[in-house]
Amino acid sequence: MKIDKNYSLKKHNTFGIDATAAAFVEIHSTEELKAVLKNNPLPIYLLGGGSNVLLTKDFYDCLFVKNSILGIKIVENVENTEGSQIVEIGGGESWHDVVLWAIKSDLGGIENLSLIPGTIGAAPIQNIGAYGVELKNVFHQLVAFNVQTYENQIFTLEDCQFGYRDSIFKNALKGQYLITKVFLKLTHSPYHTLNMQYGDIQKMLSTNNITQPTIKDISDAVIAIRQSKLPDPAVIGNAGSFFKNPEIPLAQFNDLKDKFPSIVGYPTAKETVKVAAGWLIETAGWKGKRFGAIGVHERQALVLVNYGGGKGLEIKDLAQQIQASILEMFGIALIAEVNWL
Ligand code: EPU
Repeated sequence: MKIDKNYSLKKHNTFGIDATAAAFVEIHSTEELKAVLKNNPLPIYLLGGGSNVLLTKDFYDCLFVKNSILGIKIVENVENTEGSQIVEIGGGESWHDVVLWAIKSDLGGIENLSLIPGTIGAAPIQNIGAYGVELKNVFHQLVAFNVQTYENQIFTLEDCQFGYRDSIFKNALKGQYLITKVFLKLTHSPYHTLNMQYGDIQKMLSTNNITQPTIKDISDAVIAIRQSKLPDPAVIGNAGSFFKNPEIPLAQFNDLKDKFPSIVGYPTAKETVKVAAGWLIETAGWKGKRFGAIGVHERQALVLVNYGGGKGLEIKDLAQQIQASILEMFGIALIAEVNWL
């Protein structure tokens, strides 16, 4: 375990922003983390895959701690009617690698979450979601290390207070815990429950003449859809959706619909409507706009991009301009999904 000084974070954030950390360390166990923290005078920042963070400063007088705790194992083989199996996964594992492992192991439940960048330990922090499935749907429990008390603590589904791209780790407990292990509840055949409600998935399956899809077929469809819409962070820096889809009262949505008949929204159970932020941003004229090294993606307006050499502050400034323009045009306050640091 080596602590690097004045370390470039460029490889450790999917926006590819070249900020410098006063110190950087990769930890592979809680013992290593304890040893690092005992001798560290700097404020710490806990990092996973860096796929949901925007570094807005050139220099951070902090110790960045990258979670590289690895390992995957099936810990319980419950031969019940649901066919569920509990899988224990180290927080530093890559999310998508685990999805591929699950599919190979005939374990269903996370195939709709294929190709999401980031780590297992970061997945619960914002309750990752896509194509009708959220992490919370397959979540069993997690173990997290308290960086103040050095204690390991178990968090159940209820403890995590999951919401739409939200959890207790983004709110009351922000920055206080490193998630060391996540336990998922997956399902083996013949008990797979496929989630195909999204039109994009149905279209992709019928294009490929698939009538009896497997979990691998769903995963392949999601991968193809994501690749067609979302830029690959290894090629163009980005952090997926920059903003959340805002939820507004039904009455406000109906008023907007009179003015903008093509507005896209999905009713929720609570007399509110979740509006497609991508539609709002596109309609306000931002889609595909480029400002030097940064811009708004040309195929998905919800994604801000760094073409190379862009600064975090420039992206933050663009995000604020977009927020102001959406507020002015539609009376809707967009909230960032990405953490600004
Ligand atoms: N749309 C536009 N213009 C755009 C983009 C979208 O008009 O430039 C409209 C279209 O009508 C489209 C609708 O918005 O049908 C929804 O777009 P899309 O299916 O691309 O999904 P999204 O609502 O923009 C959300 C998640 C994504 C997730 C997809 C699929 C959020 C903030 N984003 O995006 O998650 O992959 O649904 O489930 O909820 C992420 O969180 O980083 C992320 C990529």
